[in-house]
Amino acid sequence: MSRDDHVEIRKSIRALSPTLSVSMLTADLLSLRSEMAILEKAGIKVIHFDIMDGRFTPVLTTGPAFLKSFSGLPMLKDVHLMIDKPLDKVQDYVQAGADLITVHIESERHIHRVLQALSIMENANDPQRGIARGVALNPGTPLEVIHPLVDLVDIIYLLAVNPGWGGQSFIQSTARRVEEVKKIISNAKRDVFLGLDGGVTRGNIAEIASLGADLVVTGSAVFDGTDPEANVLFLLEALQKS
Ligand code: DX5
Ligand code: ZN
Repeated sequence: MSRDDHVEIRKSIRALSPTLSVSMLTADLLSLRSEMAILEKAGIKVIHFDIMDGRFTPVLTTGPAFLKSFSGLPMLKDVHLMIDKPLDKVQDYVQAGADLITVHIESERHIHRVLQALSIMENANDPQRGIARGVALNPGTPLEVIHPLVDLVDIIYLLAVNPGWGGQSFIQSTARRVEEVKKIISNAKRDVFLGLDGGVTRGNIAEIASLGADLVVTGSAVFDGTDPEANVLFLLEALQKS
């Protein structure tokens, strides 16, 4: 399968942009089915899976089987791999139903090879859809690492928190990094999406919306133990009206 066969997923993301990618990390795992119904009713089209191996981040979360249990849902599955050496594991997440799959630059010395490998994998939900390939950068990682990859990636995710936990504060220097990545993307010869991950709240969503990212990941501002539907509608409206 050549790269340009992945055009459908790219068209879908472009049509949805800007939109929220709602993280499962802080969802109530005992009420997932009803929480997913709330998200679907609220118009959420992308759900975010924070996969952590307890090595790349101190925290261990879930794996491919958890992702696969969402395969019946219509939302796009945005899989954020916070795992060491993802090269030999990405296939498991693709087979479990990832539509977007993002690996950390810091987690793999052969990052270019991971992106090449993803280019020829087939979307398990729908072979026609294709897979969007992302690279994620921790807040302390210099942006220069993106240059050799910009013709291979579909999404550049900037972490606005240090990976491992939900509910952290948005790191303010991220705004400057967004501007620099937008310049890198504007010089690319193709449509590359920009994602922001972490630290979104009701209080800063308007400021974050003004940065112009295509995908904004949020978890604890939705699943904060009060009213996920009201939270997600507020955040989505604030993002999309900017
Ligand atoms: C952090 C994850 C983020 C995080 C977002 O390691 O990658 O996706 O769960 O959660 P909030 O919105 O609570 O920062
Ligand atoms: Zn994430």
